Amino acid sequence: MTVARAAELIRNARRGLALTGAGVSAESGIPTFRGEGGLWTQYDPVKVASIEYFMADPSAYWKVSKDRGRVALAASPNPGHRALAALEASGRLVAVATQNTDGLHQDSGSHNVIELHGSGRTVMCLDCGNREARSEVQARLDVEMPPRCTLCGGIFLKPTVVLFGVPLPQPAIQQAFALAREADVMLVVGSSLVVYPAADLPLIALRSGAQLIVVNAEPTPFDELATVVVQGKSGEVLPEIAALIGG
Ligand code: APR
Ligand code: ZN
Repeated sequence: MTVARAAELIRNARRGLALTGAGVSAESGIPTFRGEGGLWTQYDPVKVASIEYFMADPSAYWKVSKDRGRVALAASPNPGHRALAALEASGRLVAVATQNTDGLHQDSGSHNVIELHGSGRTVMCLDCGNREARSEVQARLDVEMPPRCTLCGGIFLKPTVVLFGVPLPQPAIQQAFALAREADVMLVVGSSLVVYPAADLPLIALRSGAQLIVVNAEPTPFDELATVVVQGKSGEVLPEIAALIGG
C-alpha cells in the first residue's frame, strides 16, 4: 500500500523537505493553474502573469487577480496543510518550500515556509516602493481599476509574487536548494513539476541520495524517479500518512 510505504519513509525522516504546488490548496477552494479547471485553461499565463504585460496594462492583470485574490484571501488551510505542519512539529520535515503565494502553510502552523514565488498577501508600488496589505487593495478594486498607490498615486501596484519574466527571490531559492542537498526525504505535494527552478528541488534531493515521494492527483514527469507515488487528494492522503506516523 503506497500510503503505508510513504508513511514508513517519512517516519524515519529527520531532514525531510516538502515542495508544494497549487494542488495542496485546491481543497481550500483555490483553483490550480494546470490540470482540469486550471487557471491556465482559461487565461494565457504569458498575458496575465508576465511582467511585461503587467507593465503594459495593470488592469488586465488586476481583472484576473481580483477574482483569484478574493478566493485566496477567503481561503483557509485544509487537512493537507495541517498534516504538513504536524510533520514539521514532529521533526520529520525541516521546511516546506512552496510555489504557492496564498500563505495557507503559515496559517496552518508550518513555521519554516520558503515562498519560492513570493507572497500574494502584500502589494508593492513599483514607483515608490510603498507596501500595502493585499486585502486593503482588494477592498477598493470595485471602485479603483487598476488600484492606485495610496502614497504616490502610481498605477503599478503589484502583489509581491513572482511573475513570468522576473527572477525568483534568490535567498528563498538558495535556502531551498541547500535544504534539498541535505534532505533524506523529498515530499512533493500538488505540483505538476513543470516550472523551474522549483522543479529542480527534487532533482537536487535525489542526487544527494534522498528518497522522493510524490503525492499528486495526476501523474507527474518525476513519477518514475520516485520511491513512492501516491495518486490522490493531498487533503486526504497527507492526514492518512500523518496518522500512520503518529506523534
Ligand atoms: N491534491 C493533490 N494534487 C492535486 C489536487 C489535490 N486536491 N488538485 C490538483 N492537484 C494536482 C494537479 O493534478 C496538478 O498536477 O496539483 C497539480 C497542480 O499543478 P499546477 O496547477 O501546475 O500548479 P504548480 O505546480 O504549483 O504550478 C507551478 O506555475 O503558473 C506558475 O507560478 C505558478 O506557482 C505556479 C507554478
Ligand atoms: Zn507609490
